Amino acid sequence: MSDHHMLYSICSVPAERVLSLRSEVLLDGNAESSRFVHDDEVSTLHLAVCEHEEIVAVATVCREALPGSTSAKEWRLRGVAVEPRLRGYGFGRLLIKLCLDHVQKEGGRTAWCTARESARGFYEALGFASSAPPFQLPSRGDVLFHEMQYVLSGEAISDTE
Ligand SMILES: CC(C)(COP(=O)(O)OP(=O)(O)OC[C@H]1O[C@@H](n2cnc3c(N)ncnc32)[C@H](O)[C@@H]1OP(=O)(O)O)[C@@H](O)C(=O)NCCC(=O)NCCS
Repeated sequence: MSDHHMLYSICSVPAERVLSLRSEVLLDGNAESSRFVHDDEVSTLHLAVCEHEEIVAVATVCREALPGSTSAKEWRLRGVAVEPRLRGYGFGRLLIKLCLDHVQKEGGRTAWCTARESARGFYEALGFASSAPPFQLPSRGDVLFHEMQYVLSGEAISDTE
């Protein structure tokens, strides 16, 4: 056995395990609205960064077409949240990268998200661009949201190759 201990690990987890940090960071602690419609679909991926046993960053990606579209190749990023004390370490970037890998593996072409104004620069740093005029949500009248998207390049990576 090694004397060294892993500080952080990242794994795919069931939806139940991302809800707490998701609601804490993104929904003002409102646990009731912390479940998203595609959370339990088999193609949906929930990722969590753990610091020892504690979940400190989460992200979800699910198959969902852009508003006004019916494409099965569009995937939505949701519930991307990093605990405040651990922001700026690259966990957000890593989570999005792994979500995009999942989209690519599943044959998806586009990843999109609804980014609040404060997170727009984060998605821009990762190569996302605004795809619609900014808008407000009735539930969050104080926050401006941006629909942002990222087009994946190349062919899907086959599992069998
Ligand atoms: C937005 C959030 C997920 C970013 O996670 P993070 O782990 O701190 O981000 P990273 O350290 O991976 O940053 C990746 C890049 O984005 C940039 N970046 C990160 N947050 C940013 C922000 N709010 N505005 C502008 N740029 C930002 C970083 O500078 C970095 O760029 P670089 O690699 O060129 O230096 C995190 O701040 C968060 O949880 N915020 C609150 C919840 C939220 O807004 N989630 C998004 C849902 S809309």
